[in-house]
Amino acid sequence: MQKHITPDETSAIHHEFSPEIEVGLLAPSPWISPKFLYDPLGSHLFTAITLLPEYYPTNTEKNIFAQYQDQITDAIGIGGTLIDLGAGNCQKAESFFDSLKPSLYLAIDFSTEYLQDAVEKLEGKYPNIVMQYIGMDFSNQLIIPDSIATAKRTFFYPGSSIGNFLSAEALEILKQIKKQASDGGLLIGVDLMKEDSVLMAAYDDPLKVTAAFNLNILRSINYHLGSNFRVEQFSHKVKINHKEHRVELYLEALEDLTVSWPGNSKVFKAGDLIHTEHSHKYTIESIQQLLKNAGFEKTQIWTDPKTYFAVIYAQ
Ligand code: TRP
Repeated sequence: MQKHITPDETSAIHHEFSPEIEVGLLAPSPWISPKFLYDPLGSHLFTAITLLPEYYPTNTEKNIFAQYQDQITDAIGIGGTLIDLGAGNCQKAESFFDSLKPSLYLAIDFSTEYLQDAVEKLEGKYPNIVMQYIGMDFSNQLIIPDSIATAKRTFFYPGSSIGNFLSAEALEILKQIKKQASDGGLLIGVDLMKEDSVLMAAYDDPLKVTAAFNLNILRSINYHLGSNFRVEQFSHKVKINHKEHRVELYLEALEDLTVSWPGNSKVFKAGDLIHTEHSHKYTIESIQQLLKNAGFEKTQIWTDPKTYFAVIYAQ
């Protein structure tokens, strides 16, 4: 049976995000939170990105999951609750349903509509798994409802989404996971450092799907803020920051322009940037250290032949 839990603070009301969007747009170095990338169209565009041959993380992770499914299942053990952080279309978690046999699947994602669809499709296929979903932004705080049994919780955090946090924030979210995992653990996918050409192709693909995904955030902001961004006045821009070990995603103004919304406006000069996402790349050592700092004492690691990506079970 499916139940939709709606935490009070996250019910999707038009304009509820206006204050935080304004703070970002009016900052000296403007930024938009990446969570606004994942509106219904954005979620579909991201799924399209994961199908691109250049976007290696999804496929590499999928291959690691497939190749080491038995070892991963042995490490985690069967049954319990599978908690999917940033579930999206739920396909990655589904690939573990037959082996892990969770009794409850809790899917969490910012994009409720997309999630609801995905979970409803899964329900009929797995009658032995109770399915629940929560539309929630856990980037500041992750609170698993008390109604979810504390025994044997497996947190599933694939896709290197952890890389989208600054290291202090990543540490905080990992600590929160550790605290709520009790006797369970965390199965996490982490993208590793590699040569620039591979990163550039992955984040600026020739079909321009990634550009469309990034630019769509402006339409998502128009919806939430009532602003008048025009996507044709901006372009997708990727920078690799070696010092901080990350890919940085921006939107660059192509001309001088003014964006207005109820109560305020912002002038952009040609070449001005709006930051949308950081994608940090780890080494095996740096992610192990981070997990250790968060309280995880034991880690098991699986990787691909090129060591592009790591899958880790941490307890
Ligand atoms: N979390 C994904 C990543 O860092 C998201 C992503 C892929 C992304 N391509 C993007 C975010 C382009 C913004 C722009 O790999």
